[in-house]
Amino acid sequence: MAETKQFRAIKGTRDILPPDSAVWDWFERTAREVFESYNFGEIRTPIFEETRLFARSVGQETDIVSKEMYRFELHGSSLLSAIRVELFEREAWFHNPQAGSTLDWLIRVFAGELRDMMQRGDLARTPESVEAAEKLEPLGQALIRDQKEFEAKKDHADLLEDRFNANVQSVRHLIRHLDLGEQVALRPEATASVCRAYIENGMHTRPGNVKLYNIGPMFRRERPQKGRYRQFYQVDVEVLGQSDAPGIDAEVIEMLMEFFRRVGLKKTKLHVNSIGDKNCRPAYVELLREKLRQVKDRLGADSQRRIETNPLRVLDSKVPEEQEIIATLPRISEHLCDACREHFSQLKRELALRGIQYEENWRLVRGLDYYTRTTFEVTAEGLGSQNAVCGGGRYDGLVELLGGPPTKGIGFAIGTDRAILSIQEAGSAPKLPGSGVYVAWMGQAAYPAAIGIARKLREAGVSVELPAEEMKFKKSLGLADKLGARYALILGEDEVASKTYTLKRLADAEQMKLREAELLEYLESERRGTRA
Ligand code: HAM
Repeated sequence: MAETKQFRAIKGTRDILPPDSAVWDWFERTAREVFESYNFGEIRTPIFEETRLFARSVGQETDIVSKEMYRFELHGSSLLSAIRVELFEREAWFHNPQAGSTLDWLIRVFAGELRDMMQRGDLARTPESVEAAEKLEPLGQALIRDQKEFEAKKDHADLLEDRFNANVQSVRHLIRHLDLGEQVALRPEATASVCRAYIENGMHTRPGNVKLYNIGPMFRRERPQKGRYRQFYQVDVEVLGQSDAPGIDAEVIEMLMEFFRRVGLKKTKLHVNSIGDKNCRPAYVELLREKLRQVKDRLGADSQRRIETNPLRVLDSKVPEEQEIIATLPRISEHLCDACREHFSQLKRELALRGIQYEENWRLVRGLDYYTRTTFEVTAEGLGSQNAVCGGGRYDGLVELLGGPPTKGIGFAIGTDRAILSIQEAGSAPKLPGSGVYVAWMGQAAYPAAIGIARKLREAGVSVELPAEEMKFKKSLGLADKLGARYALILGEDEVASKTYTLKRLADAEQMKLREAELLEYLESERRGTRA
């Protein structure tokens, strides 16, 4: 009997099903409407990029880059990288002949594929690859020759085992640093891709600020929990250009809060901070490091490590015992240079001008390296520990770091999964209209008429469910009810003969007899009414 396996979505990923998917659609549609009202345009970027792009922008030492990215080697065949992993991880034990012949087989497949790929031009013919393609197979043969000799004579064990192990090491040495193609990663965030696209497409030559939004999935290998997934979705916004006027920051934040208002995300809290720039932050970081070293013994292991790697991240700590110590640390707001201080106070004035409520949070440093000056985050209720529904900030200089012209930038990303969770938990998700009309037809003469009216209603924008098989009216109406249709359109031979339709409102069972034109007019005005 064939083995049956229950396939499941990969851990940390999930399906979004109707009717939830309609809420997602509405959420993203509302984002588009709001952003377009602020004159933003959509950018769609690839889901994978060169790994180095993320390492350079988000930062090599950040959690995202150092441990959370899904990486792979990009070339015509994923076979080579998979076998390379096997050749390093598989047991290579002299006293197990099976292990030896598997190694030899893997080596032959690897060498064959390597040669084929170089021949096809899918892989560069580097001296290292050419050498590996030549030397691997003889090493594999030598491996099993020594094993077989030992099995046959049970003699010279030490000598043969040493030679076997040396050959395994030679195989590993030959393949360790082979360039098997481009290193790529599934995007963990969108800002790096948008900057790459901005440079690659020469978008700096466009007039004014380049205002973009990007909607789609992101990938991080984090420990899954409520509000934290390995494939999650972001609604991302970026403004790139020559100006770093605080009014841009404030307008971006205004747009974000307006969007949250429109989707009914209530009880949000906006936190803002300035983390200075390359002129003032290094001295502050050093000062912080000094202070942290003095209290090192009272901090947990994570914070202790961060004193040296990234002291700012200690301010992010949620460890209860550390809170009292953190409260006594020097604050960046007292160490900003004049230009950054002025930028931050202007930002606060601009926010006040727009009537935006915020809380200054000196500990808001964010976990990505590219930020300068303004940082902000929005938290929402009902999400437990993963309560940040949006994070953002300014990243002047990032485009330049990636090889583009000097450019200022600011943006944010909303975590769609969390925002929708919060909206649903608060019960403020809209009741979206389901299928409008269920066509309950009976009798073969009624079927062509049912097809005809279904098409006309659909053309008029009404959502129609037309059963493909004949059913008794009772069963049909029961199904219409279960499907949540607003109306059943009853169409039997009598209706066909009299060229009328019976429209039954399922909520209160009220029935109307209508001619075709009246029916269309009624349902169209009803549709406009419910969707308005
Ligand atoms: P971020 O703070 O890493 O910033 O992510 C933004 C938001 O994405 C978070 O506030 C959260 O709502 C959501 N998020 C992050 N990781 C997960 C996850 N594993 N599961 C569910 N939701 C998650 C950025 O990504 C920056 N690129 C934002 C930005 C744009 N800054 C400037 N421009």
